[in-house]
Amino acid sequence: MTSHKNKPQKNRPRKSKPQKDKLWGGRFSASTDAFVEQFTQSVSYDQRLYHYDILGSIAHVRMLAKVGVLSREESAQIIEGLESIEADIARGNFEWETALEDVHMNIETALVTRIGDVGKKLHTGRSRNDQIATDIRLYLRDEVTEIQSLLMKLMSALLDLAEREAETIMPGFTHMQTAQPVTFGHHMLAWFEMLYRDSQRLADCHGRINVMPLGSAALAGTSYPIDRQYTAKLLNFPAVTNNSLDAVSDRDFAIEFSSCAALIMMHLSRFSEELVLWMSQQFGFIDLGDAWCTGSSIMPQKKNPDIPELVRGKTARVYGHLMGLLTLMKSQPLAYNRDNQEDKESLFDVIDTIKGCLHAYTGLVPEIVVNKERMRSAAMQGFTTATDLADYLVRKNIAFRDAHAVVGQSVQYAIEAEKDLSELTLDELKQFSEVIEDDVFDFLSLEGSVAARTHQGGTAPEQVYQAIHTGRKRLKFVPLTED
Ligand code: ARG
Repeated sequence: MTSHKNKPQKNRPRKSKPQKDKLWGGRFSASTDAFVEQFTQSVSYDQRLYHYDILGSIAHVRMLAKVGVLSREESAQIIEGLESIEADIARGNFEWETALEDVHMNIETALVTRIGDVGKKLHTGRSRNDQIATDIRLYLRDEVTEIQSLLMKLMSALLDLAEREAETIMPGFTHMQTAQPVTFGHHMLAWFEMLYRDSQRLADCHGRINVMPLGSAALAGTSYPIDRQYTAKLLNFPAVTNNSLDAVSDRDFAIEFSSCAALIMMHLSRFSEELVLWMSQQFGFIDLGDAWCTGSSIMPQKKNPDIPELVRGKTARVYGHLMGLLTLMKSQPLAYNRDNQEDKESLFDVIDTIKGCLHAYTGLVPEIVVNKERMRSAAMQGFTTATDLADYLVRKNIAFRDAHAVVGQSVQYAIEAEKDLSELTLDELKQFSEVIEDDVFDFLSLEGSVAARTHQGGTAPEQVYQAIHTGRKRLKFVPLTED
């Protein structure tokens, strides 16, 4: 009979560490079941946090020495040991052991192996519960800074593209029906605004991530005379948490970050949908550089917009992780529960996905090649300047409702004549209203239509240039960015 290697088996020879060798092994006599060891481990993925784990440990030990719980000599030895472990991990020279469960116990065990009994003092006045909460916050705050920089780069690429195509006319849509002409630059600026709000949200979320739980210990705090403010200063945390029970169990910050990420993905999925549509033969508005597309294994003629499609698709996993994290925390009693170990893989995947997608879009946006003629001719269809004709009549003292009716009749006539409104003669137009004069054609042209919308937020090229200018200034004040 064959057995699956992951299946728990009875009487399997145990290769796992005897409990007494484990950091928490004192009260155990029997060894951990090998399946249980596999099932409970997190080191296969939380090893990603090693740098932050060591950073936190070093600050903790410094603080213990400052308050006299450890001697200067002990703290120096521990720090040296931790630094050598960090260097080895960075070089790929470190054996992670599943039997040691997680990143914390792997590092602590290695420390004791390297520096002897003094290493056992590292965990004084601390628990893995406040340790992991600190690690995730340290890690996430760096990732948020990096994501913020990626967002910045993408916003800046959108401004450049908007500038390049500030005067390019395309049809604007409502209900996916041709509505009014807009400039392509204006459309890119709409995307810019979405991302700008995302960057504000991230910065705000960063403030709540950037609070130090260390010192909360297992749940109740510690009886050692710790100096939390000092540790926080060493770790560059502007604040410490106010309640130990909350601090070890809180994962709001991860949920909040994931919701920011979900919004970013939602925006990217909207961009993606438009790019996919625009690249279709039916629209033909844009092309993407060959390096940013892929082909079909069966249809030789195909050039597919896979990048936007994948970004659109990856939105699903970020939404899923957000829901997963919310559900993970639902109904959890205070304080720490092992459930919380399940936060990491979701959070890590949210981070990897969002970074990948932002990176993809930053590369893709400059590769967008606009087919101006195609967009222009699409904007000519569907009587996109009908509202401009109505506005023209209003300016000639016709009430808007009456003007609306006049334009409706003109459109009906133009449909039958198979012409655009701008292609009707003055006589043809005059049938519907005597007030129409030769100057009407300035308003019926696509250029006239967009040029008339010069107010803040409008689509006129003049306004688009202005918005790009202020957009570049606004980018200088996006908080947290590294560049
Ligand atoms: N691996 C654990 C986690 O990710 C670390 C904290 C474990 N604490 C404990 N009491 N078992 O949450």
